[in-house]
Amino acid sequence: MTGCGKEVELLKKELTLLDEKQTKSDKDYSIYFQPPSLKDAKKRGKEDIAVHYESAIPEDMKTVGTGKKYLIRTYGCQMNEHDTEVMKGMLEEMGYESTEEKLDADIILLNTCAIRENAEDKVFGELGHLKTLKQQKPGLILGVCGCMSQEESVVNRIMQKHAFVDIIFGTHNIHRLPVLLKEAYYGKEMVVEVWSKEGDIIENLPKKREGMKAWVNIMYGCDKFCTYCIVPYTRGKERSRRPHDVLAEIRDLARQGFKEITLLGQNVNAYGKDFDDISYSFGDLMDDVRKIDIPRIRFTTSHPRDFDDRLIEVLAKRGNLVEHIHLPVQSGNTEVLKLMSRKYSREHYLDLVRKIRVAIPDAMLTTDIIVGFPGETEEQFQDTLSLVREVRYDSAFTFIYSPRDGTPAAAMEDNVPEEVKKDRLKRLNDLLNVISREQNEQLRGQTLEVLVEGESRTNPDVLAGRTRTNKLVHFRGSKELAGQFVQVTITEPQTWVLKGELVTSQPAKVV
Ligand code: 5AD
Ligand code: SF4
Repeated sequence: MTGCGKEVELLKKELTLLDEKQTKSDKDYSIYFQPPSLKDAKKRGKEDIAVHYESAIPEDMKTVGTGKKYLIRTYGCQMNEHDTEVMKGMLEEMGYESTEEKLDADIILLNTCAIRENAEDKVFGELGHLKTLKQQKPGLILGVCGCMSQEESVVNRIMQKHAFVDIIFGTHNIHRLPVLLKEAYYGKEMVVEVWSKEGDIIENLPKKREGMKAWVNIMYGCDKFCTYCIVPYTRGKERSRRPHDVLAEIRDLARQGFKEITLLGQNVNAYGKDFDDISYSFGDLMDDVRKIDIPRIRFTTSHPRDFDDRLIEVLAKRGNLVEHIHLPVQSGNTEVLKLMSRKYSREHYLDLVRKIRVAIPDAMLTTDIIVGFPGETEEQFQDTLSLVREVRYDSAFTFIYSPRDGTPAAAMEDNVPEEVKKDRLKRLNDLLNVISREQNEQLRGQTLEVLVEGESRTNPDVLAGRTRTNKLVHFRGSKELAGQFVQVTITEPQTWVLKGELVTSQPAKVV
């Protein structure tokens, strides 16, 4: 673990003493300290990761938020959503209350995503709006955290063009939020703390979970280094939480009555590979989680290369392990997969799908696909279409390739014209929609177990819920059913939603 952020702070403090009169906006911080470095982040150290169990909130910060409000805007994936729950938990332990109104907020944090350029554009757009608010309300604390803060270019841009930001902190520094807030309150300078290399695992951080579904981190980071992806740099090396910590958290969620848990990791199939004292894989973890009294267990996201037979065998035991597997393929062409450094071929992927289908014939498969990777030809794209036809995914997240600075693919010639990329995305989505519709049609007349989420966002006259396979179901029923399991007969399957009728208003018994 490096503490580049700490050195930065010391340097900044010394310089502040020398230069009390200078204001934030006319100061070029980049000459004073080293910004986060993607190059350093790539270096995977051999140092052990320590696990910390002590409280992250200093005694003198425990009531600092009394009477104050916070707002966190979250961009990107479920990992970020869950990090936001941790930050909310910490802020509420310090006495802050949540608000959705920017004007009421005393702290606004942007928890950012770096996966594609458009995610970053949204954050810079929001920063533009917040500048005016900060001028009206100078006491407001503005923070930028999440994956974008791990990027050197972003930190430099914020320091130079958005100097009204008070705190920038990285994905390895989330537990330091109380300390960083203290520095922001008492200091005059922008507080920047980003460790280029990963930190330790911090247990026992408070989490503010809402509703009946919960996310549980089982591991952090990613060592796969797919050539297009920024995540291994922004989230650090793969490190797994100890099994007893994960299981204790899930048992506690079961006691609290949560109905569904999603185990989170960038590559959950690599869980346990970093333990050198025990042999315990993701399959073993799922086998233990299966025995805990939570009705539904999901996981995301999988890497096909590490998806082993032990995991398939455990998933086939079903029970609370649901029949849905998100298995990102990215491309259906082996040459492109090689350039992406995905470390499997089209054939390997299809073999894995076959094995899953033999063990769990009704498993729903979903995926992620990138179109327009550098050099992708029409023929190679056709391989993606044919793979989609063969696997028959229930749905997919599809993306146009977006070059990320510092990744190997960004150095390849991005030679597929924008129009061609857009056309491929459209053809791919059209095909996926036809298949989704056909898959859903097979459910007509079937009665399925649905976990009711509440009123539908698009139509308040109906309730929305999810099947075990995570399909959205709309049906009429009493709002009191929110949070319960019910049985719904599918009467009108569509592409994105299954419309149905409630079989009984009695909650279904989940075995
Ligand atoms: N461009 C486009 N899509 C990307 N993804 C990751 N990096 C990029 C990129 N540079 C997609 C992959 C991944 C999903 C989370 O985002 O499909 O599985
Ligand atoms: Fe990115 Fe590949 Fe890791 Fe997924 S497995 S987070 S795509 S590097």
